[in-house]
Amino acid sequence: MNTIPPDQCPAWKKLQAHAGLASGVRLTERFAADPARASRLIAQAPGLRLDYSRQRIDDAALALLAQLAAERGFEEWRAALFDGKEINTSEGRAVLHTALRAGKAAPQEVKQTLLKTAEISTKLRAEKKFKRLVSLGTGGSDLGPRMLADAFADGALDVRFVANVDPVELQRALAGAEPATTLVVVVSKTFTTQETLANATAARDWGCKHFYAVTANTAAAQKFGAQEILPMWEWVGGRYSVWSAVSFAAQCAIGATAFSDFLSGARDVDEHFLQQPLDRNVPALMALLGIWNVNFLGAQAHAVLPYAHRLRLLPAFLQQLEMESNGKCVDRENRPLGYATGPVVFGAEGTPSQHSFHQLLHQGTQAVPADFIVAGIDPVLDANAQAQAAALAIGTSDAALPRYRQYPGDRPSSTLLLDKLDAAGLGRLIAAYEHKVFTQGVIWNINSFDQWGVELGKQLANRILKGEK
Ligand code: F6P
Repeated sequence: MNTIPPDQCPAWKKLQAHAGLASGVRLTERFAADPARASRLIAQAPGLRLDYSRQRIDDAALALLAQLAAERGFEEWRAALFDGKEINTSEGRAVLHTALRAGKAAPQEVKQTLLKTAEISTKLRAEKKFKRLVSLGTGGSDLGPRMLADAFADGALDVRFVANVDPVELQRALAGAEPATTLVVVVSKTFTTQETLANATAARDWGCKHFYAVTANTAAAQKFGAQEILPMWEWVGGRYSVWSAVSFAAQCAIGATAFSDFLSGARDVDEHFLQQPLDRNVPALMALLGIWNVNFLGAQAHAVLPYAHRLRLLPAFLQQLEMESNGKCVDRENRPLGYATGPVVFGAEGTPSQHSFHQLLHQGTQAVPADFIVAGIDPVLDANAQAQAAALAIGTSDAALPRYRQYPGDRPSSTLLLDKLDAAGLGRLIAAYEHKVFTQGVIWNINSFDQWGVELGKQLANRILKGEK
């Protein structure tokens, strides 16, 4: 694998030179010069279309970005990911979340666990022995399942999620529930996370006697007294674990069939990512466009704007996926970086976001690249998403208007169009972002699968709690 820093690669230097020239050409000029641009700069994955015609990019930059990916050994790294090589080197682990959704090709232990969670969740949904299910977890043990349940819960079971150590969240989740008919699922890969264990203890103190656990630390879960323990594996990172038993509560909320659709949607995108050449590969293109914006056009943030209420929790999920994975300042060779990595990811559902932070997107001093996620579910939603993307790209320069009423335009965005907003569609979308993050990590030469940056704060909080200086 290539250990040369990306900014020393020949393509990087060419991209720098090219960006100097290309950034002077406005998007309006690009569309005028190439009437086919809107239909040409499109890539299609199963059920998911990427329109990147509004990115400030041209064919020469795309070719150089593909060259950069080749110089960074992208194909070798991609094979290593799917082959289960130990690419999380700082923790000595393989990174096999794709195996969780591999269908017939999945490892036996994965298939067995899936059968088990499907059976238990189907039973719980049918017999109504438990009236409330409360999932306790944080980070990767919360954000994915919470998003999935929020998007597609069908009401068969009342499922709540608690992440915060602030007791108010647990109190709210338990309000109106009875201990005898409440099932608490403690989700923690390590079973050492302070917030989750504090909430589990508080649920026990409240009187709950029914506990399941989802963990890689069976001994600790047994000690806590969990009656059913569902496995997590060391080869799945927390923020990549939504495909596992970590989503047991979500499975109870949406049903086993929808959960299976979620997995198969992701599998479609895995195959696409593995097989398609870079210029037609949706996740790889998303990654390359991000690299272009961050490293060559100077973007420092990235907005995610789902135009669907069901996807309102997607930005929070992607914040962890992108920022915990690629928020790194040291490379795989332990060298400090001389180039930028992950941007600040933020977002909210459209249309409410338009009445909040879009002002900055349109007229702020920095251009923030955005992803518009649309699903063809409502013409008003779609019209608003299109209008925002067009306003950002084109702007207005009517000299008769005062400056404060003008829009600079030339602000880049992509549109991701889901064929259908269902569990399979969400699976496709998440898998696309996962592979985007992986590809960027390869290009930036960073380990996207560890998160040492979160440790110091945990240790300090413990010391402060113990009254140590
Ligand atoms: O603190 C960060 C983190 O380790 C995340 O990576 C992880 O998703 C979360 O905490 C929860 O960890 P656990 O599942 O072990 O409780």
